[in-house]
Amino acid sequence: MRVLALSDIHVDYQENYVWVQKLSSADYTNDVLLLAGDVCHDPDRFKAVLAMLRKKFFMVFFIPGNHDVWLHNKDRFDSLSKYHHILNMCASLDILTQPAKADGCGAGRGVWIVPLHGWYVKPEEGQSSLFFPKKEEDRTLQMWVDNRAVKWPLFPGGASAAEHLLNMNRPCLGRHYDAPVITFSHFLPRRELIFMTAEERKRARFPLVDPQPRFNFSRVAGCSGLDDQIRKIGSAVHVYGHQHRNRHRVIDGVHYISHCLGYPRERAAGRIADVAAGPRLILAVQNDQPV
Ligand SMILES: [Fe+2]
Repeated sequence: MRVLALSDIHVDYQENYVWVQKLSSADYTNDVLLLAGDVCHDPDRFKAVLAMLRKKFFMVFFIPGNHDVWLHNKDRFDSLSKYHHILNMCASLDILTQPAKADGCGAGRGVWIVPLHGWYVKPEEGQSSLFFPKKEEDRTLQMWVDNRAVKWPLFPGGASAAEHLLNMNRPCLGRHYDAPVITFSHFLPRRELIFMTAEERKRARFPLVDPQPRFNFSRVAGCSGLDDQIRKIGSAVHVYGHQHRNRHRVIDGVHYISHCLGYPRERAAGRIADVAAGPRLILAVQNDQPV
């Protein structure tokens, strides 16, 4: 059994849809896929692609991303209703959105997979924002489509979307896990994951120019509340998506890994690399031993 990570497949791009279609139907039948959000805002294509992935993998876990809850002409509800509609659709497809143990043939100790709901916190919304100031940024975030395509209802007690969605993880926090835990979310849990390290800058195979000087991603990157939950759960590995910049870092004992397919133009520019081979291997288990 292998555990593999993937996110941001954005199958509204035909090239990405074909990439998913071409994933082997034989290679992953013993494997567990963690799909960390941003499949598609169109519900019909979303469902078709998740059904396709379900057939290719032994188990599929999913957590929605921001693009998944964009409201489409076909949607007559708000983004929270769409969020729950997606969770129900996943249940009908046997795609897991709650903690479950993956133990291959059932003989071993296995590994717990814990999907974490979440959203980003903008700097004006609270201390758990991952905001970092940027020169020349457009503070109004005019270019951020979520501002027009995501519509949240009023949450009880005046909670923010992030607070409401993080609260949905509460049942995962206080429980005992009898095997190592891998958590995953769509959004980033820590500010330092946003930026390239000096070593990554040295190895970069693309020009180190900011493609969007007016856009400050850190305003909508994620929230530190996610990391609080990751630490409470005692996760060994956390998989995330959203930024379309693939990383592997170890911070205070936790491996943080992102493996986004992203947009065709980002791959063409070399900003997203190493996705040609498919989902990223996180863990392989043979005779109950990690290999
Ligand atoms: Fe994305």
